[in-house]
Amino acid sequence: MIICETLSSFGHAMSNLPKDCEIGFVPTMGALHNGHLSLVKKALERTKFVVASIFVNPTQFNNQSDLEHYPRTPAEDLAKLQAEGVYAVLMPTAAEIYPGGKMREPIDLAALDHHGEGPGRPGHFEGVVQVVSRLFEIVNPTFAFFGEKDFQQLAIIQHMVKILELKTEIVAVPTLREEDGLAMSSRNMLLTPAHRKAAPLIYQTLQEAADMAAQNLCTPAELCSHIVKTIDANPLLKTEYAQVLGSKTLQPANRWEDYDGARLCVAVQAGSVRLIDNIKLK
Ligand code: PAJ
Repeated sequence: MIICETLSSFGHAMSNLPKDCEIGFVPTMGALHNGHLSLVKKALERTKFVVASIFVNPTQFNNQSDLEHYPRTPAEDLAKLQAEGVYAVLMPTAAEIYPGGKMREPIDLAALDHHGEGPGRPGHFEGVVQVVSRLFEIVNPTFAFFGEKDFQQLAIIQHMVKILELKTEIVAVPTLREEDGLAMSSRNMLLTPAHRKAAPLIYQTLQEAADMAAQNLCTPAELCSHIVKTIDANPLLKTEYAQVLGSKTLQPANRWEDYDGARLCVAVQAGSVRLIDNIKLK
């Protein structure tokens, strides 16, 4: 596995690949867990030339303390990527990603950031688009793999590819979970033991809600209040939002008939750690 800390060493590594080979790309912020590795495995099913990036992107953090406390485990990350059979890892500096602090012209996010994670994290998705578009420019991948765990991010990246007329195919990968249902996340390692024990209630509640929706037992708004009540009944958890959003538009609606595919999205504060999760509704 070739480890590249500069764009020139990365360019060199890529120049040694067979001409016209297909490249699979897995962008990450490191602190890798099996969820990330499931993206790498999916990528390796499509091509033997897989590139991963590890870059804690400052422009997508709207909270300085969150950026400072973001877990960083580079040595372990590299060992995991090597064991999977990744061809090259790009670990660039911010100075090379944003030379001279330069950013691209923001794209119109078509209101995809108006709900869910958008309102509570101003500038977050603009930062994600900045870094992913820049990484795509550097890697020029045939396929890029994104987790459904960050459902809104996935939708925004798909939109970005369309707007910028990029050739990269975006591949969605289902959320990998711990045995107790908690969605794997780099942030889970920051949970206290008590909060870790409480956290599986989030996905349990999402599953229960998906059953309720399938049986048409309540309106979308009633379903959301039920989720907030159930999760907040645990004193260690506090729901920031629970929303049923259109899976393409990411807009809420009043009636189930108005959704062309619905996704239930939640953000929950567990002590000092903010967890997100989502589930498909039928
Ligand atoms: P990060 O949080 O490191 O996640 C990298 C990729 O792993 C994302 O596509 C995310 O959705 C996916 N992922 C995380 N947990 C997962 C799980 N439990 N199951 C499946 N996939 C999972 O998302 C980012 O980094 C950044 O915003 C990034 C796209 C790299 C831009 O900076």
